[in-house]
Amino acid sequence: MTIPVDIAALGARAAGMIEELGRISSTPDHLTRFFLTPEHRQAADHVARWMAAAGLTVSEDALGTVRGHWHPAGPEAPRLLIGSHIDTVANAGKYDGTLGVVLGILAVEAVQKAGLTPPYGIDVLAFGDEEGTRFPTTLSSSAACAGVFQPASLGGLDSDGVSLAEALVAYGKDPAAIAAAAYDPSRVIAYVEAHIEQGPVLEAEAEPLGVVTAIAGASRLSITVTGEAGHAGTVPMRMRRDALLGAAEMALAVERIARADRHGMVATVGRMHVEPGSVNVIPSRVVFTVDLRSGSDSSRREALTRFEREAHRIADDRHLGVVISAFHEVATVPCYRDLQLRLRNAVADLGHRAPELASGAGHDGQAMSQLCPVGMLFVRCKGGISHNPAEYASPEDMGMAAAALIRFIERFQLPQRDGGTSGAQT
Ligand code: GLV
Ligand code: MN
Ligand code: MN
Repeated sequence: MTIPVDIAALGARAAGMIEELGRISSTPDHLTRFFLTPEHRQAADHVARWMAAAGLTVSEDALGTVRGHWHPAGPEAPRLLIGSHIDTVANAGKYDGTLGVVLGILAVEAVQKAGLTPPYGIDVLAFGDEEGTRFPTTLSSSAACAGVFQPASLGGLDSDGVSLAEALVAYGKDPAAIAAAAYDPSRVIAYVEAHIEQGPVLEAEAEPLGVVTAIAGASRLSITVTGEAGHAGTVPMRMRRDALLGAAEMALAVERIARADRHGMVATVGRMHVEPGSVNVIPSRVVFTVDLRSGSDSSRREALTRFEREAHRIADDRHLGVVISAFHEVATVPCYRDLQLRLRNAVADLGHRAPELASGAGHDGQAMSQLCPVGMLFVRCKGGISHNPAEYASPEDMGMAAAALIRFIERFQLPQRDGGTSGAQT
């Protein structure tokens, strides 16, 4: 059977849903929705209503992941997981994460309405902690589903000193129930996510959709530099121990290391806190973050070692203290070859080419890969802009992505057209 797809109608619905969720924010003028906040609660409830209206049975796990279940072959049948996240960065775009949840719901609704009765079930998942913007954890909600949640992360604090454990309890959750959120690997077939590309490749290729080959590994560090406060008018330059100047030199060092890399490594210093933070006081303490990513895990590890060496040299030269701690470390995850082929075939059914591309951005699939094979579909976004309110994907492209997911689900039980179904990991 070929399910009829109305790409324009699917795109219009996706665009409407993106607008609805985009209005749920902690700030009136732009979109900011952090993990386990009142806005997360509101968005999760909204997604649960969408899921119920689409004919899914809704539940929520101990990390706040909303799960929409469709189990035509009974709850014991193996499941295909389709999802993405509903948390955002500060001053975010509306599509990052939300789009994958919306498309999952639209696709499952369509296959259900068309009367498809596959021998497997589908769970649509809306994770809450992909961005890692509130707590030092990142991907904690998908890690819980994958059964790899680290209990030590419950002690991690947000900028107000609230621990993850406290925030979960305030959200109505029981941290003791986290282990029960894990899927049984023997019952899960695969995890598939649609996401905006967040880069310029598909636009340059004039293609609406792409298939992801791998998700780049990442490290996140917190660096504390300590010097000595002093009067900005009286302490001669050569007698200062200025923590901010040391931190600035370290930030430039990590930039230099990434630029010298041949595998497209990227490094970002996205947060810097300066104490005491007065116009007329020499900074005594600086805490800043480094986010380092590469498709080559060995290059990333070498870069970390080089950065640590450089940071200590800079601190010694300037008579400063430095402490470096890693708070996120995830290896490069290859997408499952069989799922790549299936996604490409689904896109080909719609008359498109689906170029292959690697993801420089992080995704819940990195955690889910510890549970099951992972596949990702990218959707073209305007100018490659993301983590920015200007983020945009056209209704046509979103409709095409929903249609591709429908085709993917529809033919999931069938053998491949152009390859075996062995699903060898690449
Ligand atoms: C999430 O968007 C990340 O890649 O940091
Ligand atoms: Mn995302
Ligand atoms: Mn993001």
